[in-house]
Amino acid sequence: MEKNIYIPDLAKIIRIDSVTANEKIFDIAFIDKEVQKSFNFKPGQFVELTVFGVGEAPFCVASNPRNNDKFQLCVRAVGSVSKALHNLKEGAKVGIRGPFGKGVFPYKEAEQHNVLVVAGGMGLVPLMSFLTYMMDLREQYKNVMIIYGAVNPANILYKNEISYWNSRDDISVCVTVDNPDDKWTGEIGVCTKLIPRVDFKPEDTYTIVCGPPVMYKYVVQELEKKNFKEDKIFLSLERRMECGVGKCNHCHIGEKLVCVDGPVFSLWELRNIKEAI
Ligand SMILES: Cc1cc2nc3c(=O)[nH]c(=O)nc-3n(C[C@H](O)[C@H](O)[C@H](O)COP(=O)(O)OP(=O)(O)OC[C@H]3O[C@@H](n4cnc5c(N)ncnc54)[C@H](O)[C@@H]3O)c2cc1C
Ligand code: FES
Repeated sequence: MEKNIYIPDLAKIIRIDSVTANEKIFDIAFIDKEVQKSFNFKPGQFVELTVFGVGEAPFCVASNPRNNDKFQLCVRAVGSVSKALHNLKEGAKVGIRGPFGKGVFPYKEAEQHNVLVVAGGMGLVPLMSFLTYMMDLREQYKNVMIIYGAVNPANILYKNEISYWNSRDDISVCVTVDNPDDKWTGEIGVCTKLIPRVDFKPEDTYTIVCGPPVMYKYVVQELEKKNFKEDKIFLSLERRMECGVGKCNHCHIGEKLVCVDGPVFSLWELRNIKEAI
């Protein structure tokens, strides 16, 4: 019998880590081991998570796609589902549908090229699946630079991973904050400020951008000043979603649906969709 795409599979929260005042990381595994084994996602894909009795919302998978014994989500508490999820304890059951989205980060195309990653705020979350995958297979990529901007030091996500990347000499990491505290010794200001420092050859570089929509225009302006090419710049979009599977039309941008055609698009694709950015 064909699977009903609207019925979630049962999964269990196996670990919860409070990373900031508003964001928690959830390690989740499907109850049915066969379902877990066949849960193969690509960097940039998302799932629809159900908190039973409350509702469903989309979240990007933030863990390495090469690990298939569990997966990870990082969720900011903003509304009904995410706040209810934050109130759950380890061992609680949730529903999961997915993975969804066919537009993914260009993890294959970028092999043997430089990779520039620009993340703002929660935008680091979807990128974690790409970054952890790339770190595992580091020799398949040329130079890697990560630019990450957060509002203030307390809001920086994935601090352990960032210090690990900083300890490696094959990755360049620049973290900047808008509002520093007394202890902050790093960069200050928006992440676009750091793009002029990138010295990668544009024709040999894939750029991946994820962050609040307001950031995209300015990041793209800076990248284009450096002659980065629109078919090698990729951006992940968020739209309000319901079904996640191309049926309800909630997430359309022009003629495209973010849930099935995205959520990751090249800048070239977006410029060919009316009202996209
Ligand atoms: C592909 C994709 C991936 C995502 N990945 C992540 C992720 O990894 N982590 C993460 O934390 N979030 C992620 N999000 C965002 C997350 O899905 C939303 O924040 C979602 O709305 C949370 O559901 P909720 O029920 O908690 O909040 P909601 O109750 O939906 O409220 C969320 C916010 O939207 C406002 N809102 C509610 N209804 C409407 C409406 N009809 N129109 C406009 N605004 C409204 C609310 O006031 C509130 O500020 C992702 C979204 C998409 C589309
Ligand atoms: S969420 Fe229903 S069509 Fe995209």
